[in-house]
Amino acid sequence: MRVRVLGTAAGGGYPQWNCACAECARARADGVARGQDCLAVSGDGRRWHLVNASPDIRGQILATPELTPGPGRRDTPISGVLLSTAELDHTLGLLALREGSTLNVYAPVPVQAALTEAFPVRRVLAGYGSPRWQTIDPGTPLTLDERLEVTAIRLSAKRPRYASAVAAPRDPNGAHGAVDAWVVAYRFHDLVTGGVLVYAPCLAEWTERFDAALASADYALLDGTCFSDDEMNSRTGGGRGSRQMGHLPIADSLLRLSQRRGPRVLFTHLNNTNPVLNPDSAEYAAVLAAGADIAADGQLLEL
Ligand code: MLT
Ligand code: MN
Ligand code: ZN
Repeated sequence: MRVRVLGTAAGGGYPQWNCACAECARARADGVARGQDCLAVSGDGRRWHLVNASPDIRGQILATPELTPGPGRRDTPISGVLLSTAELDHTLGLLALREGSTLNVYAPVPVQAALTEAFPVRRVLAGYGSPRWQTIDPGTPLTLDERLEVTAIRLSAKRPRYASAVAAPRDPNGAHGAVDAWVVAYRFHDLVTGGVLVYAPCLAEWTERFDAALASADYALLDGTCFSDDEMNSRTGGGRGSRQMGHLPIADSLLRLSQRRGPRVLFTHLNNTNPVLNPDSAEYAAVLAAGADIAADGQLLEL
């Protein structure tokens, strides 16, 4: 399988338009930037699936040679989009893909409910073409191409802030355990090489189910929103704790990782306040010392 990391920043990107925190100021001074969290994955190297659709998707596609359209004038190697949450940083890009009318959009039941009611992308896109909406049932493997299988792992019932009033969704297919799967991880498995990648950019809690999903994984792209719980407050003078926002701090994950043999870990969905963005920081040194790293925009993983 081939994985292109399209973006590695949390909502707001890096630097964020209205932020002058130490890291955003440094990014502007150094002329560096990161796009918002998004991946492209392929088993056969021809058909690609986006994992989440970031607000930066247009530029991310243009920067990725594997996603170049052709050979037909309206052919695209992008077959579909898998959504891991209904958060705006993972779904706004769907609107920018409105020209790709036959895309498959895969999402768990509550994510589809949010995108039908509170943020009616589904209705909006229906005016432009006909994306095929498919239900992701956590725990049930799905085949994306002849050698790539994906299984969603239910992570948490944390809703986007805009969707706080969405009615408890009913699962049209009776899919087991799907109705509170507001946030999932994806476990990609290459049936030819045996390679396994786990992608979990919004990890509220390190559950046994999640730990089991990491077993035999070669790579894990993990939630790296904040390094420590009080980071937003200490770095911007306001904002909620990382755990309260549904993001386990990197410091907690490093502790978990030190207790197990595990995959090669790359942190992604990095908030612009995160000191690991500074390569000279003690926090980035701690990530490296644990045998992990932070993912880079454009990075290619082959498993
Ligand atoms: C999150 O990851 O918690 C959300 O994307 C926050 C946001 O709305 O930007
Ligand atoms: Mn986010
Ligand atoms: Zn900032």
